Amino acid sequence: DLKYDYLIVGSGLFGCVFAHEAYKKGKKCLVIDKRSHIGGNIYCENVEGINVHKYGAHIFHTNDREIWDYVNSFVEFNRFTNAPIANYNGKLYNLPFNMNTFYQLWGVKTPDEAKAKIDEQIKDLNITNPQNLEEQALSLVGVDVYEKLIKGYTEKQWGRKATELPAFIIKRLPVRFTFDNNYFKDKYQGIPIGGYNKLIDGLLDGIEVKTEVDFFKEKAYFESIADKIVFTGKIDEYYNFQFGKLAYRSLEFKTEVKDTANYQGNAVVNYTDRETPFTRIIEHKHFEFGTQEKTVITREYPQEWDESKEPYYPVNDAINSEMFRKYKALADNEKDIIFGGRLAEYKYYDMHQVIGSALKKAKSI
Ligand code: FDA
Repeated sequence: DLKYDYLIVGSGLFGCVFAHEAYKKGKKCLVIDKRSHIGGNIYCENVEGINVHKYGAHIFHTNDREIWDYVNSFVEFNRFTNAPIANYNGKLYNLPFNMNTFYQLWGVKTPDEAKAKIDEQIKDLNITNPQNLEEQALSLVGVDVYEKLIKGYTEKQWGRKATELPAFIIKRLPVRFTFDNNYFKDKYQGIPIGGYNKLIDGLLDGIEVKTEVDFFKEKAYFESIADKIVFTGKIDEYYNFQFGKLAYRSLEFKTEVKDTANYQGNAVVNYTDRETPFTRIIEHKHFEFGTQEKTVITREYPQEWDESKEPYYPVNDAINSEMFRKYKALADNEKDIIFGGRLAEYKYYDMHQVIGSALKKAKSI
């Protein structure tokens, strides 16, 4: 007989939010995860008293008051504001592109001078119909911003030359004519005080959880114990890869403890030249204004994905989008399975979007 109303496969944000909503409505839930910890990709590991973002830097931001109130009901958020720095061949620039950046590039002091400089550079190039990412970016910001702050970083991220990447990857390149280094435009932004694990613990409070359990290893059993399944793993794996394997981009993180209190003075420093093999260095303590004696830094190396690596970013090209469409058609016909989250929907989702999506799907409970 059925022991649970819902079996939730995956303890990432999607699974946790769904489980919490089901639990609130009196449903009996079991959450399983194949990893040794809960939280999915927002999980943090404590090293030297510092919350280390094990699966990449996570900064919460949203324009949605309801979602902001929702997360703050589990843990209070701090006032962290993402203001990344770019290091190009040893020189530092503020990001996103704003008056500070333009001053650092050209010494211009007014918005009119900055606009004139960019317009002049764009005009000189005379690109009317951009054929690739390089031409697209050049036609939006001109040669200096592109060469120093976009080209190398983008090529490392995609593992391909900018001239071989499609133009559509970059639709807009926001340039700001104010001295404003706040990367995000959203009204609300911050990091949970005490770390993301507190958010996960709050969501799963009172709910049964099992880690180091792979759904596929005991599929028949798990299907037999619950009325409905919420699946947040890879959709192609759920359907035995019958239409092929969906592709991803991956990352390798190399983390180091440094015997100094402050290594780079900022949470995020991007390395925008082509030669430095990593794209950025994260100094985790700065997300929480940490005052520990030591510091922990992580270098991020973009990678081609294969089965041995974490699937981080979906590759939304024509082949993979078409393949996903076929899997989704199967998923749409399922009565007792809800597919949700970044792996099951093969979609790059920010945290606030995953929460929004889970809350929406949970309305059917
Ligand atoms: P998530 O991957 O977190 O959870 C899925 C869980 O399912 C995993 O724990 C996995 O182990 C488990 N699972 C899979 N298959 C299973 C199986 N067969 N059996 C059992 N368990 C299984 N967002 C943002 O708002 N701000 C930011 O700064 C960032 N930064 C960022 C950096 C990097 C490098 C990445 C890749 C992503 C971000 N994000 C982000 C996005 C953020 O990570 C994302 O929105 C959520 O973590 C997604 O939550 P999900 O629950 O969908 O997946």
